[in-house]
Amino acid sequence: MSYTYPDNPISIYIHWPFCTSKCPYCAFNSYPVTEVLDFERWKLAYIACIRHVAERSAAGRTVTSIYFGGGTPSLLSYQFLESLLSEIDKCWAVSKDCEISIEMNPGYVTEANVRDFKAIGINRVSIGVQSLTSEGLRVLGRKHTVENALLTIKACAALFSNYSIDLIYAWPNHTLESWKKELVDVFALNLSHISFYQLVIEDDSTFGHMYSRGELLLPDDDTCANMFEYLQEATDKAGIPAYEISNHAVPGFECRHNISYWKYLDYVGIGPGAHSRITLGQQKYATVHESNPKKWLNSIMDNQHILEDMVPLSQDEQAKEAILVGLRMVEGIDIRKLPLPLNQIINLEAYERLIKENYLVVDGDILTATYKGRKRLNALIAYLIR
Ligand SMILES: C[S@@+](CC[C@H](N)C(=O)[O-])C[C@H]1O[C@@H](n2cnc3c(N)ncnc32)[C@H](O)[C@@H]1O
Ligand code: SF4
Repeated sequence: MSYTYPDNPISIYIHWPFCTSKCPYCAFNSYPVTEVLDFERWKLAYIACIRHVAERSAAGRTVTSIYFGGGTPSLLSYQFLESLLSEIDKCWAVSKDCEISIEMNPGYVTEANVRDFKAIGINRVSIGVQSLTSEGLRVLGRKHTVENALLTIKACAALFSNYSIDLIYAWPNHTLESWKKELVDVFALNLSHISFYQLVIEDDSTFGHMYSRGELLLPDDDTCANMFEYLQEATDKAGIPAYEISNHAVPGFECRHNISYWKYLDYVGIGPGAHSRITLGQQKYATVHESNPKKWLNSIMDNQHILEDMVPLSQDEQAKEAILVGLRMVEGIDIRKLPLPLNQIINLEAYERLIKENYLVVDGDILTATYKGRKRLNALIAYLIR
């Protein structure tokens, strides 16, 4: 059964920006650790930040999910994580069944770590498996092995009912045949949530630089489309269908935290480079924290000040953002909930054409992108929105 959000829900994202090394495809705000970190100082900074953000936005709101992402937050001690959870609990009304997730990198967590995470109240784990083939892990520059990944999955399966893995496909030299074989191994794990990401070549990444020098041989567009299509058929058959472009779940195991982004509900991000969408009074704001970890830390600890950009969003911007994220979900969006009438946001000619050609479907007040539409959502949105 799908989750019903309470009135005035809010989700909290905590960003830990450090990893053991930087993966060549990654453009997230993450940095390899190059010096000994003063964890006490970092912990105090997060706590100060949680308090500050709560002062302006906790009143009247219920926290429905907390997400530790990164970077590699599973490198943090459970005591560190517990201090942040306890501060959130002090400053906010946290729902009894709050979803509390952590991203975990195989190869760097032990069974004891997994047990500790559970003991402090974490109830959902997202494991960065990326590939169940040695070739995939090698090409993607991951430091863990397939065996490490399977051990982490096993440890999580023994303790959590709610856990997920991330996989990347369409990496350099990846073939449809090898993807089909890998999916057989994936389904044998009987997972209830899987995120399948098609590799994006980010300009600001090692792969981006290699690609621009012609050093990466990627599967062609037809192969990528076939991989995506095969994935949809195979996951439907395996009982773990898509509920969003890249996210698949056995019904009832959808990630509540991520759904709150796609439903355009309020969320606060805490940590270097973290984004928020937060309504204060009648106005919704987009905020982003300073992305440089040292500057973020020092501004809070030395000046008691969070370096952040805070921009009020117009009704038009909000409506466009809500469409952009909402159409990612298979269930689509309720157009009555948009801040402006649809005809003031979209190009009507494009809209009618997209419906006629079966990229979009409107049923009463619900607008959805069809499978064909979700496959090319970015292009569709660029055409649809004026
Ligand atoms: C916040 S990231 C990292 C989580 C964790 N540090 C890890 O690497 O396992 C979340 C997920 O985004 C996906 N991802 C990151 N960069 C990507 C890219 N360039 N293309 C496709 N997927 C990507 C990976 O599957 C990754 O697990
Ligand atoms: S993919 Fe994950 S582990 Fe790799 S650099 Fe990015 S955040 Fe760190």
